Amino acid sequence: MRTPIIAGNWKMFKTVAEATAFIQEVKGKAEVDGVESVICAPYTSLPALVQAVKGTTLKVGAQNLHWEDSGAFTGEISGAMLKDLGVDYVIIGHSERRAYFAETDENVNKKVHAAFKHGLLPIVCVGESLEEREAGKTKDVCRVQTEAALQGLSAEQAAQVVVAYEPIWAIGTGKTSTAQDAADVIGYIRERISAVFGGEVAGKVRIQYGGSVKPNNIREFMQKEDIDGALVGGASLEPASYVQLVEGAR
Ligand code: G3P
Repeated sequence: MRTPIIAGNWKMFKTVAEATAFIQEVKGKAEVDGVESVICAPYTSLPALVQAVKGTTLKVGAQNLHWEDSGAFTGEISGAMLKDLGVDYVIIGHSERRAYFAETDENVNKKVHAAFKHGLLPIVCVGESLEEREAGKTKDVCRVQTEAALQGLSAEQAAQVVVAYEPIWAIGTGKTSTAQDAADVIGYIRERISAVFGGEVAGKVRIQYGGSVKPNNIREFMQKEDIDGALVGGASLEPASYVQLVEGAR
């Protein structure tokens, strides 16, 4: 049995004070038995969040990392630094980073290895653009991105990866994949992981859906056996809505 995981991706939102106030609001409520709940915040809020979640079951994630431990990389943050803060998870290869910051499959793979090196769990994002979907390339794109991201991992590491299937056209648009469509693609991603790492590993990997997930549609996605939770942007920013998402994943 895989534990469902709801992760809020706050993107470039919230000051430290707003982030801390959010945790005070959701404490106890966004902590539901059998559901893992992770807040992925901008770097600036991470130290305060790590403090604020102490004594709760809530986890904290970053939204990116550099693959080197240290060096002349102006503006970057390493896995070693995130671990030092007490961060648990890190989102890697979000489509916004691939589109606006030239993140490649190769960089994503280096970042996944760096995360494991420092004891962070990666949430690896994959997903197709509208153009790719219309050209019938959805599964190919997801296969290539997933296989590249996981390349060179041990079976033990691969089993701990969280994959987020986020069709780019569904992000922040209010359009979602149907639950059935998402489950089909996620089932295919699991098959490919099985082909590389074996069925036991594939059975353990958690695969989320992401893209306009809201309190009113989370249950549809969660009813699908292959969907193990959601990576949520907009609807994770309001405490009440975040709590409903976690409850919906039960
Ligand atoms: O990483 C989550 C994300 O890209 C989806 O955003 O606002 O459509 O839930 P949103």
